[in-house]
Amino acid sequence: MNATGEYYRGKVAAVTGAASGIGLALAETMLSYGAEKVVLADFNDENLARETARLDKAYPGKALGLHCDVTKKGDVQKMIRKAAEIGGRIDILFNNAGAGLGGSFDKQTNEDWQKAFALNFYGALYGIRAVLPIMRKQGSGHIVDIISGIAFSPMAYQTMYSATKAALNGLTLALRYELWDENIRVTSATPGTTATAIWKAGGTEPPPNAQSPEQSAQTILAGVAKNERLVLGDQGDVSGARACFNPDFAAGQDDYLLNVARKRRSGQWVV
Ligand SMILES: NC(=O)c1ccc[n+]([C@@H]2O[C@H](COP(=O)([O-])OP(=O)(O)OC[C@H]3O[C@@H](n4cnc5c(N)ncnc54)[C@H](O)[C@@H]3O)[C@@H](O)[C@H]2O)c1
Repeated sequence: MNATGEYYRGKVAAVTGAASGIGLALAETMLSYGAEKVVLADFNDENLARETARLDKAYPGKALGLHCDVTKKGDVQKMIRKAAEIGGRIDILFNNAGAGLGGSFDKQTNEDWQKAFALNFYGALYGIRAVLPIMRKQGSGHIVDIISGIAFSPMAYQTMYSATKAALNGLTLALRYELWDENIRVTSATPGTTATAIWKAGGTEPPPNAQSPEQSAQTILAGVAKNERLVLGDQGDVSGARACFNPDFAAGQDDYLLNVARKRRSGQWVV
């Protein structure tokens, strides 16, 4: 077993948004690395039941599904409490549930924005608050917030996605150093462009260069095992993070992001 696998061996983890895509791949890959128990939390009960049953066959007694709508604080608290009961502890929490939230700013209401933050920001905040007392009692833990490359490359017609993921990244990176001396690790991670249901939900198809959820999960898990501050899921996210706020690339960024905006306005969904 390599160093990444060792990090997850015998661990208890909880993953939100785990009934599909990257969350499911994170759960399954951790089990393949020898995790002791993985709690899959999602509000899509049908997918959750199907995927948990499939994982339970492959890893008997190690995969457990819990219903949880992360926009509801009570649901998140209950899920974390149950996960800790089931596993005896929670070593790693992945705040992964989220949505792509596309659309024209003009057509979005303040209520839409509140819903966007409820899912992509407050869902993770509730998870952090619920798990912290447990990790403090244990004297260790790792919280991982799944953001997106859009946090560094904010794109037109995804203002809500850009803002919510940038906010989550800010929370995550700042909190990392508040908790460091308590032996609680905090990592921010982008999956990279990944072929999952998130694209269809946004009315489009994943781009041809999209990687598989398993690839994204492996990259994220490797970075988390090394306690990286920010895991970048693919080369696009690496270049985006390097370029976006670098004054030397400002003109190039304007050209690129304006082109994205104009293409999207004309009905072509490019990234
Ligand atoms: N796929 C990509 O290219 C990509 C790129 C960057 C970031 N991400 C991020 O990765 C994460 C996972 O997305 P994915 O691509 O696997 O999408 P996905 O749609 O396959 O999975 C998202 C899961 O979250 C669940 N979910 C949605 N709202 C929820 C809620 N309120 N409570 C509980 N569960 C809820 C869904 O039921 C689903 O199972 C998201 O945070 C997304 O923003 C994805």
